[in-house]
Amino acid sequence: MSTKPLTSVTDRLLAGAPRTLPEGFLWGCATSSYQIEGAASLDGKGESNWDAFTRIPGVIKDGSSGLVACDHYHRWREDLDLMKELGLGAYRFSVSWPRVQPDGKGRPNEAGLAFYDRLIDGLLERGIEPWLTMFHWDLPQALEAAGGFRERDLAMRFGDYAALLARRFSDRVGRWMTINEGPCISENGYRWGVFAPGAKEPEKVVRNVRHHVLLCHGKGVEALRAEAVRPVLAGFVHNPHNLIPLTLEAEDVAMARSVFRERNGWWLDPLLCGSYPQKEWEALGADVPDVHPGDLQTIAQPLDFLGLNAYFGEYVGRERPVPFRRDTAAVTDFDWKVEPEVLYWSLRFLHEEYGIKDLAVTENGCAWETGGLEDAHRTAFLRDHLRGVALAASEGIPVSGYFAWSLMDNFEWASGYTLRFGIVHVDYETQARTLKDSAKWYSKVCRENRIEDDRFGLRLP
Ligand code: FCB
Repeated sequence: MSTKPLTSVTDRLLAGAPRTLPEGFLWGCATSSYQIEGAASLDGKGESNWDAFTRIPGVIKDGSSGLVACDHYHRWREDLDLMKELGLGAYRFSVSWPRVQPDGKGRPNEAGLAFYDRLIDGLLERGIEPWLTMFHWDLPQALEAAGGFRERDLAMRFGDYAALLARRFSDRVGRWMTINEGPCISENGYRWGVFAPGAKEPEKVVRNVRHHVLLCHGKGVEALRAEAVRPVLAGFVHNPHNLIPLTLEAEDVAMARSVFRERNGWWLDPLLCGSYPQKEWEALGADVPDVHPGDLQTIAQPLDFLGLNAYFGEYVGRERPVPFRRDTAAVTDFDWKVEPEVLYWSLRFLHEEYGIKDLAVTENGCAWETGGLEDAHRTAFLRDHLRGVALAASEGIPVSGYFAWSLMDNFEWASGYTLRFGIVHVDYETQARTLKDSAKWYSKVCRENRIEDDRFGLRLP
């Protein structure tokens, strides 16, 4: 097998990858409620943790918030038309919990539910499959004030919320994801304090937060299956620590796979195998989470699919046993290094280690302003990453869809509006949407189910 140096990373594995995806492969784009909707206190919506967090001076790079964002709450029709124009087969969006249940418990907000009715109906009318995420980080502030994910009780509230959504939308929505990226909630939100609620908790609390995120998932799946009016598919969206073997030799591949398991076991073992990794558990001593009898059964209910969010990765191999980032990689505006092989390896390791039967790439993309609307870098990024998905599919790894992050530029959390991830450009002054070159290219890919060469042919290092 090839041992080509890392500077020609696309060539070493992906150049020979097939250009076509299996028939029925689903092409989509992803967004999340707080990042695009705006209308932060309209029509009975309750306050979210992000509404509260963004008011703290200095926490958002440009001092902005999601108060208006892309004004998608009002412009949803135009946005759906755009999706149709692009030829998307699916759209992954999230429901804002405080919009549909302002206090996080009890009384639902009919106007909020009606918004998602319109959105879902509009998708179906345009032949686009709705993929619904129940929770993409915007928590009712009332629940945050009561302790948020530190409190076990949140999982019971989440179960009720999931039941509300299931009763209302399961007649039309078949694909459900409970939670987006647990690690961003626990680490960014409660360990480092860079996301809402901005807490810096000790290890024990962070471990409880992680456990409660998983418990929310479990309670959510339970409620979804109990309340859905027809069989639906339940999934979890995870952003693993992605590992890439230093060379393609079997020993390095095996090593990358075992480091993948080691680095991701704390989230994925309870979720998929019903137990926490023993070695890490023992090493934690008194900082282990408070796990109650029955929790792990709740968490590990059979999943229908796993969503993979991946943006970058690290290399590891016999010669470099400590994972590292490649010096020669292209770097995006987020300082994330571009590693087009990540999707291939993470899909493969997830399948091999955990036997997952259905995987979808639920987020992948890049923040780059280079080129403006002629965003050759983004197109090259998508093209090369998609080759990894095609290669995985050709090897029998069960990957059924890909969602570009993001449909349009939006509020990028602590970075505010300073980073543009969209394939569609948003002018925040006028709210005008304009297709970037990458959107035109991606549209062709969606329609033809084939990874075309783009007109720039840019090669990322
Ligand atoms: C992921 C988030 C998504 C977006 C991208 C860039 O971690 O799920 O909302 O911010 O990163």
